[in-house]
Amino acid sequence: MDKKKVYITRRIPDEAIELLEEHFHVEINPQDRVLLREELLEKVKGMDAVLCLITDNIDSEVLEAAGTKCKIFANYGVGYNNIDIVAATERRIIITNTPGVLDDATADLAWTLLMAVSRRIVAADKFTRNGAFQSWDPMMFLGRDITGKTLGLIGAGRIGFNFAKKAKAFDMKILYTGLRHNSKIENELGAIYVDKETLLSEADFVSLHVPLLPSTTHYISDLEFSMMKKTSVIVNTSRGPVIDEKALVKALKQGEIWGAGLDVYENEPEIEPELLNMYNVVIVPHIASATMETRTNMGLIAARNIIKVLSGEKPDTCVNMQVLK
Ligand code: DGY
Repeated sequence: MDKKKVYITRRIPDEAIELLEEHFHVEINPQDRVLLREELLEKVKGMDAVLCLITDNIDSEVLEAAGTKCKIFANYGVGYNNIDIVAATERRIIITNTPGVLDDATADLAWTLLMAVSRRIVAADKFTRNGAFQSWDPMMFLGRDITGKTLGLIGAGRIGFNFAKKAKAFDMKILYTGLRHNSKIENELGAIYVDKETLLSEADFVSLHVPLLPSTTHYISDLEFSMMKKTSVIVNTSRGPVIDEKALVKALKQGEIWGAGLDVYENEPEIEPELLNMYNVVIVPHIASATMETRTNMGLIAARNIIKVLSGEKPDTCVNMQVLK
């Protein structure tokens, strides 16, 4: 019998590919770039499964192009705002994501950004490399204390919890806000639930850990920046559009906040040009989950989901459970 066919829209770590190749005929985008729209539409045709990335726009046209044989789109990422879930559910195509395995890596990167901004690491590194370090100077590269300060967590799901857990080592007071109370974060970390306004006005550091939804789009805009402390730092490792990027530029220019650490951008891979020249901003290219271990585990989750679905079993991490009923 002919092997079932799986398409992978961009190269991922080998282990997941090898696992899929044990079971299926696997084709991978050979280019080191995101597939163009026409290529995506062409490549998904006749596949039994597609392993796609968060950069692939999986809308009804792509799902339609995949055809009736296609049982699953396994998204390589925990966020799945790139997929039209309603359209997939209507076509009874299973959508899976990769929760759990990237909590530590993402929380670690959020901390890396928080510390890099607070201690002005990128500017100080550049200064030192450029040979500008002439003498110890009491006023050189003054940053912001972290220990003992107040952390404001927006979204207290798995990643937010993980991020807050590490704040305990810095003796921080933890405030959080979100759709609902989370008794685990309150009991285990002593976090206090507050409304958005209180969080923004009291936090020294604000870190975003919410999915991208209509209700979280531009969750932080002009009004919110005006409520924040002038000494505060904002960190975003969630999704770019959660922050209104033009409002962020304005807030940084007007000194409404002290700095920003960004992994994600409103119109990725575009970045508001003014951010590129700001000394109080640290920017990285959407790498929160980019460790070998984490990216391998994300691939393995996606691959196992495909194997299970194509053998008639339920996947481990389905985001449109209705299809399984
Ligand atoms: C995700 O998983 O949604 C990230 O943005 C990429 O790891």
